Amino acid sequence: MSSYPQTRLRRLRERAALREMAKETRLSVSDFIYPIFVTHGRDVRTEIDPMPGIYQFSLDHLIPEIASVAEMGIPSVLLFGIPATKDPSGTEAYSANGIVQEAVRVIKQAAPELLVFTDVCLCGYTDHGHCGVVNDGSVDNDETLELLARTALSHAQAGADVVSPSAMMDGQVAAIRGELNSNGFVDTPIMSYSAKYASSFYGPFRVAAESSPGFGDRRGYQMDPANARQAMSEIAQDIEEGADIVMVKPALAYLDVIARAREQFTIPIAAYNVSGEYAMVKAAAENGWLDSRQVTIEILTAIKRAGADIIISYHVKEMAQWLAEG
Ligand code: PBG
Repeated sequence: MSSYPQTRLRRLRERAALREMAKETRLSVSDFIYPIFVTHGRDVRTEIDPMPGIYQFSLDHLIPEIASVAEMGIPSVLLFGIPATKDPSGTEAYSANGIVQEAVRVIKQAAPELLVFTDVCLCGYTDHGHCGVVNDGSVDNDETLELLARTALSHAQAGADVVSPSAMMDGQVAAIRGELNSNGFVDTPIMSYSAKYASSFYGPFRVAAESSPGFGDRRGYQMDPANARQAMSEIAQDIEEGADIVMVKPALAYLDVIARAREQFTIPIAAYNVSGEYAMVKAAAENGWLDSRQVTIEILTAIKRAGADIIISYHVKEMAQWLAEG
């Protein structure tokens, strides 16, 4: 490339139509997955304090919510459940009549074309709040695998389109793939939370999902935020175990990990724009310190530019609205 004054990179920036033609990254509503929290009871529509605009819905309120999501052209949702009761092994997570299983049936009835992803984990369902079975004060990897596999199967049986393990147990993708295959669900894809970091950006989610660990933290199974090479090992293992989509989570502070994964692997990469990232934007916007719309578009564009094919975000409904407005 020649240099200034022959080359003037500003030439393509002066006019809006040229800027559009030169645009390298374009958000589309088809990129998005919208997370939804479902809870037991009737007439529950509780806004989550640190996540303005995001609610816990009982199933009666879920129906109109799903209708509006589908009508906006949003292709998919990711379900999280708040169980009626919690116990040491997270029984409701794999119960045929658990809240997520019921919600899947309701959604499939209301909007059969909408893709339903389900989070496969135990932390919201265990009384200690950890993502698996606790033995001698730590999470027992291999004992947890069986429960995760049962959970994923129960979601598929309820009609889930894609199951999404987030417990960060070694071997969870293989365990789930095996269980699905031997029960006739060979075609159900797995989106694995492959590179999931032990992040403080999950704080608001844990209010929403009522899933904070009762003792200790998740550093014994989730990744150290300092590690990027190790994320490539996690992703490679999950692909080998049969993952169809791999995820990096959180997104914004881990754009380098997304970019590296995009260079190294060929399968679709999802990025989770998590609750704390959402809360920061909303809190600043409420104070008049940031323009919520402009900042959100910039953040989601950056996540896609880094290499994410699929973006999971609490901003999806407002973003779909903005895209529709043009
Ligand atoms: C469950 C799970 C978590 C999130 C998604 N699935 C929380 C955690 O690991 O504590 C976080 C999502 C968010 O912060 O938006 N394991």
